Amino acid sequence: MSISKEARKVTTNTIQKMKLAGEKISMITAYDYSFAKIFDAAGIDIILVGDSASNVMAGHTTTLPITLDQMIYHAQSVVRARERCLVVVDIPFGYYQSNSEIALASAIRIMKESGGHTVKLEGGEEVIDSVKKIVSAGIPVMGHLGLTPQSINKFGTYVVRATEEAEANKLRRDALLLQEAGAFAIVLEKIPAALAKEVSESLSIPTIGIGGGPHCDGQVLVMHDMLGINTEFKPRFLRQYLNLNEQITGAVQQYISDVKSRDFPNEQEQY
Ligand code: KIV
Repeated sequence: MSISKEARKVTTNTIQKMKLAGEKISMITAYDYSFAKIFDAAGIDIILVGDSASNVMAGHTTTLPITLDQMIYHAQSVVRARERCLVVVDIPFGYYQSNSEIALASAIRIMKESGGHTVKLEGGEEVIDSVKKIVSAGIPVMGHLGLTPQSINKFGTYVVRATEEAEANKLRRDALLLQEAGAFAIVLEKIPAALAKEVSESLSIPTIGIGGGPHCDGQVLVMHDMLGINTEFKPRFLRQYLNLNEQITGAVQQYISDVKSRDFPNEQEQY
């Protein structure tokens, strides 16, 4: 049996064992109780309460506006649904960048108030002191390198990252620094597959790719993208498994028509 299926509860140790055994890690975002319950029961290894909630739940154009209180609210809803998977919660923009004391305070609030199991934050060398401080308080940290959406105003665009040697070298170094600082895994977002392969092979901790190619130790997708709820976002790395937008539109149109035509409710649908 696979390590993931054998685990009664998925922990950071399970994730580490999966890397060692060469078993791929599945991760998906969720922000509410109902979807988290479905994903957990389906057997997902990790649910990420991503700050992409800022985009897909709140309708902002970037991840920057979401607050720590809002992230904790989403994480609480996901944790209530969780029976088995590991729950990772993003520390949002503005709640860890200034110094490691603030980063630790934010991580502690997430763990205490939401019941999530680990936190995630973006960046390498710049956030190493914070990663060390959070890890030394007993809180597991997932790193995030490559395209880091909280820095969109520095990058200017969401194009593939680390295609130039200097940026690729920084990413190689940042990945090692995160591992040395005690991170248990690293998300690699939108970087060349060859670089993601090299980094994944050089690390003893797992990498989770999103637009990082097939050699990452696991993969993550945003639920609204892979379920086809949000159909405007179609990057090359995305595989859309459903077209829920079309199905929901059809169902709601049918409902409207049934109400207008007095077909709904019928004899069996009343008291
Ligand atoms: O917030 C998020 O959904 C993420 C994923 C894109 C990895 O960080």
